[in-house]
Amino acid sequence: MATHRIGLLTGGGDAPGLNAVIRAVVKHAVGGLHWQVVGSEDSFDGLLSDPRRLVNLSPVSCQGLLHRGGTVLGTTNRGDPFVYPSADGTPVDRSAELAATIEDEGLEGLIVVGGDGTQRIAHRLMQTHGIPVVGVPKTIDNDLAATDFTFGFWSAVEVATEALDRLHSTAESHERVMILEVMGRDAGWIALYAGVAGGADCIAIPELPYDVDRYIGKIKARRRRGRPFTLVVVAEGAFPAGFDPGSTAPHAFNGGAGHHLGKLIRERSDAEVRVTVLGHLQRGGGPIPYDRVLATRFGVHAVELVRNGQWGRMVRLENGLITSVPIDEAAGPPRLVQTDHPLIASARAVGIELGVKV
Ligand code: F6P
Repeated sequence: MATHRIGLLTGGGDAPGLNAVIRAVVKHAVGGLHWQVVGSEDSFDGLLSDPRRLVNLSPVSCQGLLHRGGTVLGTTNRGDPFVYPSADGTPVDRSAELAATIEDEGLEGLIVVGGDGTQRIAHRLMQTHGIPVVGVPKTIDNDLAATDFTFGFWSAVEVATEALDRLHSTAESHERVMILEVMGRDAGWIALYAGVAGGADCIAIPELPYDVDRYIGKIKARRRRGRPFTLVVVAEGAFPAGFDPGSTAPHAFNGGAGHHLGKLIRERSDAEVRVTVLGHLQRGGGPIPYDRVLATRFGVHAVELVRNGQWGRMVRLENGLITSVPIDEAAGPPRLVQTDHPLIASARAVGIELGVKV
């Protein structure tokens, strides 16, 4: 029986379900097919460190991983082998070294679990050094164009929805405007889905620069109807119309979108406003069942791609089925919320104010 020895790593920000992917890859490849799977710690770093930080993964070492948050392999946002930060901070190209290590370790190729940045690196490694790669898409933001959903997204939506449920009762008791800022720098998927699920009255997303007066109008209309409290969900990348986010340092609005909207509402009304920034609570903790299942299906399919020699592809969810696409498709522009997305229409139909004229 042909055997394989492959590397596995997780890169970029973590997401609930990473461990479920690791477990699925190892259970299928090692437990089922008797391959060897070598984990690289902290993304590509494990292959570049001296000594190397590599771990032989087995079904036993992956026991109890399905429901655990984070990634047992560790991860990092830094460590692109093409622009690797040296001791004095100058970026150096260590990609050839990485290719040599992969050969030295007898690895046939890598399964790379990560977001668009990590998939872009994987694609470049394949193009530049001929390293065989298979990608598994990950981000809680759900903004990868090549897949219907990424694992981690629904877990993040669950946390944000629970936060809204909790804010609901205190907002009602105190007759306040409660603003919840959720993640989503470029795309408002978490804000939109959690806003609908949590019964928000107003939603602000980066794709729709808002007019604060529309939110004020909603707050006042609710008061007139005997509902003197309002729930607002704001994606961290949302901003008012007329504000040029490109005019400030990248992500200058990061962490400030909720407070900024709160300030605007206070300036224009007598509403008592409180702001909650949910932050990394959305990324921490274990995956919900949907993400466990999706991560497991992704992991198994990644092994199947290797088994069939289909390197250079990334697994994806397509209309309920797990299929794959050339990995460079993941490296394209992010998938943003389109104004004609059906959930936008549903949100409006149930009276949610999106801050823009219909
Ligand atoms: O891309 C995922 C994400 O969680 C974004 O929603 C968020 O803006 C960013 O990562 C936070 O990154 P970091 O953990 O590096 O602060």
